[in-house]
Amino acid sequence: MSRFIVEGGRRLGGRLKIQGAKNSALPILAATVAVGRPCVIHNCPMLTDIEATLSILKSLGCEVHRSGNSVSVDSSRMSFTEIPDSLMREMRSSIIFLGALISRTGEASVCAPGGCDIGMRPIDLHLFAMEKLGVNLVEEHGHIKCRCQKTTGAKITLSFPSVGATENVILASLRCSGTTTIINAAREPEIVDLARFLNSCGARISGAGESTVTIEGVDRLFPTQYTVMPDRIAACTYMTAAAVTGSDILLEDVAPHHLAPILQCFEQSGCRINVSANRLRLTSSGGLRSIGTIRTMPYPGFPTDCQALIMTMASVSEGTTVICENIFENRFRHASELNRMGANISVHDKIAIVNGVRRLQGASVCAHDLRAGAALTVAGLCAEGTTTVENVHFIDRGYEALEKSLTFIGAKIKRID
Ligand code: UD1
Repeated sequence: MSRFIVEGGRRLGGRLKIQGAKNSALPILAATVAVGRPCVIHNCPMLTDIEATLSILKSLGCEVHRSGNSVSVDSSRMSFTEIPDSLMREMRSSIIFLGALISRTGEASVCAPGGCDIGMRPIDLHLFAMEKLGVNLVEEHGHIKCRCQKTTGAKITLSFPSVGATENVILASLRCSGTTTIINAAREPEIVDLARFLNSCGARISGAGESTVTIEGVDRLFPTQYTVMPDRIAACTYMTAAAVTGSDILLEDVAPHHLAPILQCFEQSGCRINVSANRLRLTSSGGLRSIGTIRTMPYPGFPTDCQALIMTMASVSEGTTVICENIFENRFRHASELNRMGANISVHDKIAIVNGVRRLQGASVCAHDLRAGAALTVAGLCAEGTTTVENVHFIDRGYEALEKSLTFIGAKIKRID
């Protein structure tokens, strides 16, 4: 198991290119199964979750080649429709293969997906939607076996705008007879990216990014090349790193409009932000102010994936910040780790009250999930002395060598294997 050793108290500076979005690349790679023709996906970050997705594609019989950040997938001679349990359990997003397989072959067999332990994370909405599309589901011995000659277009109202369920419905409906309409669809930018990729293959998806998405079934899809959008959560991570260390950094290859829900927090805390087409500059004097109350919500609300990072920032901001986690029920485990570093955070069910302290102190802390790992690493950057962050394998799920990027902009951090 790897750990990071972080020497705190250094100013950061310079330029950094933001990686491609993990949460976009994962469903797009799964979608290549549905396309059934050769696809080349550019700007695919080097992450363990991406490697796990490529392993699933290979296990299904797809031809997969990676050259740097470009991945080619040819699923035209794919021969299997069952995903091995060990691969399904590696990450939550493996469930997206359900819709992709059904669309392509009319069959899929999967077990419950794994992923970071941040709450119950059921898949009831995915299964409800598949049934609405005419898919026959049989659950036996922990497996869900799905069968359907051709999905039938339907009107599907999601009781919650689930990102994964929206993606699964889009994928399962690509070749449906008639039209599928998703009401209360998730509006995250990653949904728009998936729809753009699929439309570039000849799919007919409209309304992605809005609450109502329509998919008209088509008979054929075509080969394509596509570039994954920038990772908005990675951008937020480096912004937080600069904010808490009183630094000035320029992020390149960002999509500033995707960051709208979080920019306000940084401005409220006293950071200066300048954006141009695909760049963002953040300047912080280090004297941060409390950001009042933050509530995580589906997009365009404040993203749950940035909650841990903002908690680190609130820990060293003057005044009290209240954080309300509305998306996942077990996503405050970083609070007690931050307290080990001298933060003053109390958690009451889904509310965390953060009383800012002047400075954190280096300590040995443990990441319990991906974004918590990033938040603790950032906390180490502004802490007095040395911080050890255990469980770096969680961080590697979503960041392309986080320690190298941070070193590149002036941090002192090393990985110990
Ligand atoms: C995606 C992101 C994840 C992000 C989350 C919310 C990927 C690979 N992951 O996860 O980083 O934190 O969106 O923005 O894109 N739910 C149900 N039943 C379901 C499905 C979801 O109750 O069938 C609940 C979940 O338990 C959770 C909430 O809905 O409480 C949001 O989940 P969802 O939007 O589906 O998140 P994911 O797609 O898993």
